[in-house]
Amino acid sequence: MVTDNDLALMPLEQALTHYMSESSVRDWVKEFAIPYRELMAFYKCAIMEVETKFRVLNEEFSLLQDSNPIESIQSRLKTPESIVEKMIRNHHPLTVESIENNLNDVAGVRVICSFISEVYELADAFLKQDDVVLLARKDYIQKPKANGYRSLHLIISVPIFLHDEKRRMRVEVQIRTMTMNGWAGSEHKVRYKKDNVILSPRVQEELLKCAELGAEIDSRMEWIRQQTARPEPDRDD
Ligand code: GTP
Ligand code: MG
Repeated sequence: MVTDNDLALMPLEQALTHYMSESSVRDWVKEFAIPYRELMAFYKCAIMEVETKFRVLNEEFSLLQDSNPIESIQSRLKTPESIVEKMIRNHHPLTVESIENNLNDVAGVRVICSFISEVYELADAFLKQDDVVLLARKDYIQKPKANGYRSLHLIISVPIFLHDEKRRMRVEVQIRTMTMNGWAGSEHKVRYKKDNVILSPRVQEELLKCAELGAEIDSRMEWIRQQTARPEPDRDD
């Protein structure tokens, strides 16, 4: 007798044989599971490419400005559960091709900086690279969301180089300050806390106030950065 716990620990294909015939499982693996795993591997490669680009920029900026603009980089692949949920919510067919065509955020890279000006300096230097194609830009710093959310979002594509082909993959890049990141992390926790999905107007108001206080900290820190910036070195040329 196979229990639910046993099923949960089995490789997916083996677990499926408890629900489908072996030949149906083989067909399903061939048609969906293998191409899905392959697509996810391509997105992972795209994440590596984008992370490397930011690490290189961080290194170079630290030579130019005497400090590392990037505090941290967090990357994630969208989980199968949230891929399926988003595809169904947006009425897209559930095929591997349709996932690639319709979702911009399967691969996500979040870059955290100290200062607002660093967000834009990094974004500009990243987008100037001739293999990065900008597909969409949402500036929630200039125009914050109604709830107070702030961040710069770029949907881009980068090439990944496989043994016999070059493939462009889309990546969602979010660049934000530590203050914006702290707010977004806490807001997300509060919003997705069980039984608490709909926030009361009072709580929403308070979250918005916190976002505005955060924006004030960022703007004061920006002033401090300008005051303490190293003067441009004299150039002979
Ligand atoms: P999604 O369907 O959620 O991907 O949104 P979208 O395609 O309309 O894009 P948008 O640029 O609005 O948001 C993309 C991502 O930004 C989200 O998945 C979150 O990571 C982040 N984000 C956007 N809005 C909020 C917000 O209000 N709070 C928090 N914590 N994160 C947000
Ligand atoms: Mg998303």
